[in-house]
Amino acid sequence: MVNSKMYELGTHKSTIRTIFEFGRKRAAEMGEDSVFDFSLGNPNVPTPDFIRDTAIDILKNGVPSEVHGYTVAPGKPEAREAVARSINKRFGINYSGKNIFFTAGAAAAITISFKALCEEGDEFITFAPFFPEYRCFVESVGGKLVVVPARPVDWQIDFEAFESLLTPHTKAVIVNSPNNPSGAIYSEETITRLAKILSAKEKEYGHPIFIISDEPYRELDYNGFTVPYIPKYYHNTLVCYSYSKSFSLAGERIGYIVVPDEVADFGEVFGAIAGAARVLTHVNAPSLWQLVISRTAERPSDISTYVKNGKLLYDGLKAAGFTCVQPQGAFYLFPKALEEDDYAFCERAKKYGLLLVPGTDFGCPGYFRAAYCIKTETIERSLPLFQQLAEEYR
Ligand SMILES: Cc1ncc(COP(=O)(O)O)c(C=O)c1O
Repeated sequence: MVNSKMYELGTHKSTIRTIFEFGRKRAAEMGEDSVFDFSLGNPNVPTPDFIRDTAIDILKNGVPSEVHGYTVAPGKPEAREAVARSINKRFGINYSGKNIFFTAGAAAAITISFKALCEEGDEFITFAPFFPEYRCFVESVGGKLVVVPARPVDWQIDFEAFESLLTPHTKAVIVNSPNNPSGAIYSEETITRLAKILSAKEKEYGHPIFIISDEPYRELDYNGFTVPYIPKYYHNTLVCYSYSKSFSLAGERIGYIVVPDEVADFGEVFGAIAGAARVLTHVNAPSLWQLVISRTAERPSDISTYVKNGKLLYDGLKAAGFTCVQPQGAFYLFPKALEEDDYAFCERAKKYGLLLVPGTDFGCPGYFRAAYCIKTETIERSLPLFQQLAEEYR
């Protein structure tokens, strides 16, 4: 009667959902202070005042039909121009509004991009560990997700494995840097090598291969690391950006796709993006938030809490004996679990109220993710518990 795949997707309890429910039960029984929820990537830094003030001003003083009405599908011209200007200023590029397509966050941006590009038999390559939604997004448009095994020593790309998985069916490579869940940023060296390999393969196969750069964490770079702007290194790049994390606007659903002039047949790609957005019933990104972004696109993000939390948790876990690559961005730590079975490890951590996500969910067994977009004080109180957990394995 119903589509069984959709039913499965809609009713299957994700690990994060199960962890969340465990946390609520424990909080009801033992109090909120006994729960250390590292499971969710929901920003805890408040939305900046300048964003709230701008939204309030627009709501109070804007023309209602402009604030709340439909917009043209790619977005309001002034918002598209504002985003293009801000990118040009930062990265020395020469975009205009025509290069920007507003979306409801990065999830919509990547799904629309997959749909726009995917033809029968196409493969989309990504690198473990990866954002689990890639699989259902790619499969929903009829594509096949191909996963390159992880390189845990620094979470950069295992190029040998990558090259062995490229085929004439490869339509695009999904890059997520800063990365969820590893916190790694792909270095300039990594991006340059990736671009070189793809350029050679485009020639060999005689068709374009795209990079889809999923960038909801672009502004969250620290510890001396910066995120290379991939379109400067590779011509066939689509950038999928979001304000969910940078301005703590995850529930408002606002982001965009950049389609650079350099992509193979700009008009065709932009047209397919508009078509994909149409059949996915995207209609337009939220009008109010397009207006807010048109006034705030050049404002910086406040990442000080994430820098502080990342250091605190990294130092604390290292002191407790965990093996972990220091995060370079985003707000995730991805340490090695203290036993091979990451599910068993995360189960054991629950005894202490430590809610962690097994690495298997991100295509990387033997590790776990701890999201540190939570109160600093909660992290401070959790450190002795990580110590006790580690003691159990000595
Ligand atoms: C890697 C990655 N891509 C995309 C998304 C979706 O972001 P948005 O809220 O902008 O749709 C997330 C959200 O956590 C993410 O971690």
